[in-house]
Amino acid sequence: MESTKFGTLAVHAGTKHDPQTGAVISPISLSTTFAQISPAIPIGKYEYSRSSNPNRDDFEHAVAALEGGKYGLAFSSGSAATATILQSLKPGSHIIAGADVYGGTHRYFTKVAQSHGLQTSFTTDLERDIPDLIRPGSTKLIWLESPSNPTLSVTNIQAVSSFAKKYDLLLVVDNTFLSPYLQTPLSFGADIVVHSVTKYINGHSDVVMGVAVVNDEEVYAKLTFLQNAIGAVPSAFDSWLAHRGLKTLHLRSRASSQNAQRVAQALADNIETKKVLLVNYPGLETHPNRYTVQLQHRDGLGGGMISFRIAGGKNAAAKFCVSTKIFTLAESLGGIESLCEVPAEMTHAGISESERNKSGVFEDLVRLSVGIEDGDDLVADVLQALDLAYSV
Ligand SMILES: Cc1ncc(COP(=O)(O)O)c(C=O)c1O
Repeated sequence: MESTKFGTLAVHAGTKHDPQTGAVISPISLSTTFAQISPAIPIGKYEYSRSSNPNRDDFEHAVAALEGGKYGLAFSSGSAATATILQSLKPGSHIIAGADVYGGTHRYFTKVAQSHGLQTSFTTDLERDIPDLIRPGSTKLIWLESPSNPTLSVTNIQAVSSFAKKYDLLLVVDNTFLSPYLQTPLSFGADIVVHSVTKYINGHSDVVMGVAVVNDEEVYAKLTFLQNAIGAVPSAFDSWLAHRGLKTLHLRSRASSQNAQRVAQALADNIETKKVLLVNYPGLETHPNRYTVQLQHRDGLGGGMISFRIAGGKNAAAKFCVSTKIFTLAESLGGIESLCEVPAEMTHAGISESERNKSGVFEDLVRLSVGIEDGDDLVADVLQALDLAYSV
């Protein structure tokens, strides 16, 4: 039976019974090289594991199917996916990017890509600013994260895509924060979707990996060449683990979204008590881009990520994060377990204070990655930590 329904695809896409043993789960194929019957004529479709291997292939097919795209390309990290995509641009090219992208993406644009002759302009409002930022002849690519990290601002992908088409630019959307269960950027006109697989796609905080999904054959050919030539590829074992994680993505995504909705509401209720200054969560009716959330996210769900400004500044933010009992103070996100962090001091510390403040990453901002534990326990944990932090 063929199905395009998400849960069925998540479990079955890229998966086939082993033809020899009938095993329903693919074996891990650790071989780095594959036998050939005569020079340059391999027995099967594989030659050398950096170029492609069975487990990576299966994973790439599965993610492509879930994103509604034709081709998947897996990398050794989300950052390696970013680096490989940027490497496809000629020196002198110009990029327009959202201002509050992941700190490591910002670092790559400003500290690595720049030394290879790529220039990036950042803006807090892509939909408004793209026409002003275009440099005729040299602007080649738009990079956006929606929702953004860590302020959860939401960008209308279709609106940005119409600029991209008008000016003949590639549109890359980092879909890490939602996963393909909640949002499929290709369906809104993106050319490339990227993920830190490390987060929701693998979902169990035990693999560092990245992936890109594309539809266009020419873009795929360019990236697949660079994937092999640069060689920032995942191991067969990590590909297998990430594929296993992917099979429950729909269940985990929905559960973490439902928990996050409750936690965000509990925090928002504390704006009145003055313990909380602001809650950024796309699932709240008060979110400034809620209309776009309803258009772009499955069932208008807000995802598992929340950020909020706590009363009491930097000290209160730190106190909150060391007072939670279920939320662990740690970087990363998108796993089954709940995490908290202070972006200004941790994930986004590499961005200057003035730039951080411009995009709302103040020192009192706390970021939560809400996991799939019991929702009652998570709400209780956040409220007790808030009380402790407020009394600092
Ligand atoms: C939104 C986003 N994109 C990309 C990355 C980079 O991914 P990785 O850590 O797998 O290199 C991260 C990492 O936190 C991220 O949060």
